[in-house]
Amino acid sequence: MATTNTTKKPAATKAAAPKKSAASADGVAAGKAAGNGQAGPSVQPILNQQFHAPAPLQKYGTVSQRLPIGLDEKTREQSVANLNQMLADTITLRDLYKKHHWQVVGPTFYQLHLLYDKHYEEQSVLVDTIAERIQILGGVAVAMAHDVAELASIPRPPRDREEAPIQVSRLLEAHQIILKNCHDFAQQADESGDDGTNDLLISEVLRANEMQVWFVSEHVVDTPLARAE
Ligand SMILES: [Fe+2]
Repeated sequence: MATTNTTKKPAATKAAAPKKSAASADGVAAGKAAGNGQAGPSVQPILNQQFHAPAPLQKYGTVSQRLPIGLDEKTREQSVANLNQMLADTITLRDLYKKHHWQVVGPTFYQLHLLYDKHYEEQSVLVDTIAERIQILGGVAVAMAHDVAELASIPRPPRDREEAPIQVSRLLEAHQIILKNCHDFAQQADESGDDGTNDLLISEVLRANEMQVWFVSEHVVDTPLARAE
């Protein structure tokens, strides 16, 4: 081992020297400054490797059989496609909650401001759980905003600030889209034998969304505030 290391170090120094980069010059200077008369190892990070990237490790849309979890390829492909749709919509709903958390106005500001942020946090947990299920199945989880926007089925809201009842209506529409997909995707997962995906969609995604629908819906019930009619 010691012999191998001794032969490798001078080779690395020779290879770096002809480049005359600031990094290698600094490395040599640091080695000399250390008083050992030899260039020390370079601590320069190798930057900008993305511009010369080889083929990606795995293409989006493909499903590998890396993990032995007892599911065939067709089942994984179906679940990954459905879960990426669910992920894009859940990321969109999560961000819709944050938009409304910031922009809400009116006499119900305090309640809605806090409620929206609570639901944002809960949707964030779902986002992570869905994405990690996709990875476990051998897929590639959609992640970045522009890709999510292309995939999501929830309508795009305006950038403008809107009234609280409009905010609530948008949220309820988004929840309903997610919940309908939850039923469809869970049934498909059940029929194909993907129990883990079925359980995630029912026990976590569906339950959380139904609960949030309840809490949000009560803000658009037209009921007397002080005196019974
Ligand atoms: Fe906040």
